[in-house]
Order: sequence, then structure tokens, then C-alpha cells
Amino acid sequence: MKTIDVCLSPELIHLYDVSNKTVVVVDILRATSCMVTAFAHGVESITPIADADECMKMKYKGFVVSGERNGQKIEGFDKGNSPFEYMDETIRGLKIAFTTTNGTQAIEKSKGARQILIGSFLNLSAITKYLLMSDHNILIVCAGWKGKINLEDSLFAGALVDKLRKHIEPDCDAPIVAQELYLSAKNDMVKFLSTSSHVKRLNKLNIHKDIEFCLTPDQYDVIPALKRSELHLL
Ligand code: MLT
Repeated sequence: MKTIDVCLSPELIHLYDVSNKTVVVVDILRATSCMVTAFAHGVESITPIADADECMKMKYKGFVVSGERNGQKIEGFDKGNSPFEYMDETIRGLKIAFTTTNGTQAIEKSKGARQILIGSFLNLSAITKYLLMSDHNILIVCAGWKGKINLEDSLFAGALVDKLRKHIEPDCDAPIVAQELYLSAKNDMVKFLSTSSHVKRLNKLNIHKDIEFCLTPDQYDVIPALKRSELHLL
């Protein structure tokens, strides 16, 4: 039977052999939710970049530069990190260079995996369907916050484990921890997350509507996947 494991923080990724695994990177609030939304609305590619200065340089190569630090749009960048900035017709066909506090760092640290996919509640069923058909073992990499574990990414990991569990064996205890967390939260995830550190951070920045949207399952039937250094639709 295939296995599934959960890396609760990118700082723990050295404990896993990713070379033969399909890695699902997740940053629910809000990087991977944004990426999924952007692909659902027709962007051509997203280049995830860990460093903000490197990302800014991409502007001179014709890329739209997007991202945030500590939740706020970076000065001089074209776009920030709200999914609502990636929903209109003007983003169709764009090539975006993207940097975020944690999400793009988690993608960088996952390089070397057999395959890297971008997951969020917004494309939960699409990811589930694909993983059920694939032959490879799975690792969910939670972006967390600056190396620490966070609630919302762990919750997503639990939701994905819950959907796959009948068919895929947990490799360790982290998938079981995440699934139990999800089962206790699933009836009202917004309420469950109301005390989480990043929800409090976003609320302080008056970013409220993103939270509920990013927790809404199955809005989009798309899976972004890393091909060389760019994300494209699978
Ligand atoms: C991140 O990458 O840490 C986040 O997406 C932060 C945010 O909410 O903008």
C-alpha cells in the first residue's frame, strides 16, 4: 500500500527522503491558496522565489512581481498575497514571480522531490483524485510560520489524510495527529482557527475575507505543479 506522511514544518524536512515522493506543499493562509486561485483564473506560470530581492529583479525580465512579507505587500511589487487580487481577467496569461514569508520557502526546501504539487482547501478534491491515481508515496509539507508549526496548514494536512486514509497507509504519527485535528475542527474551521496566530495577525492587518475564502473547499479543479523552476498546471 502507498504511504502518506506529514512534515509539520519545513524545518523538519531533513527527516524525510523526498526523492521518491510526491510532495504537496501547503500554505493555506495564504500563499498556496493564492497560487491555486491564480491558475484557476488563467495565469500562465508562477515562479516561486524564496528571496524578495531576487523576486524584484524578475520585474526587469517581464514578470509581474507578487508577494508579501509578514502578511503585507512588498513595497514596489505589483501585487500582494490576497487570492482576491488573482481573480479577474487581467491576470490571464501572466507570468508571475512570487515570494512569500513561508510558502515559497517551503517550496524551495521541497526541491529534490520526485514531484511537487500545490495544495489548498480550494483544490482539495482535485488533489485527492490525483493522489489516489498516482503510484507514489506522499509527503504533505506544511509551510508553517518562520519554522514553527501552524494550525491551518496542519488542518489541511488532516483533511487530505482523512480523504485518502482508506487507501493510503500513514507512514508515521504526524498524519494521525493531523487527521484527529481536522476531525475535531471540520464542522466550523473558521471558528476553530479564530485563535490561531496567523488569523490574529491577518485580522490586525484588516485582512478578514481572505480567511474564510481560503478555508472553503473545492472552489477550483486545478493542480499547480513545479516544472523545473516554474509552477504550471499539471
Ligand atoms: C506566507 O507565505 O507566509 C503567507 O502566505 C503569509 C500571508 O498570509 O500573506
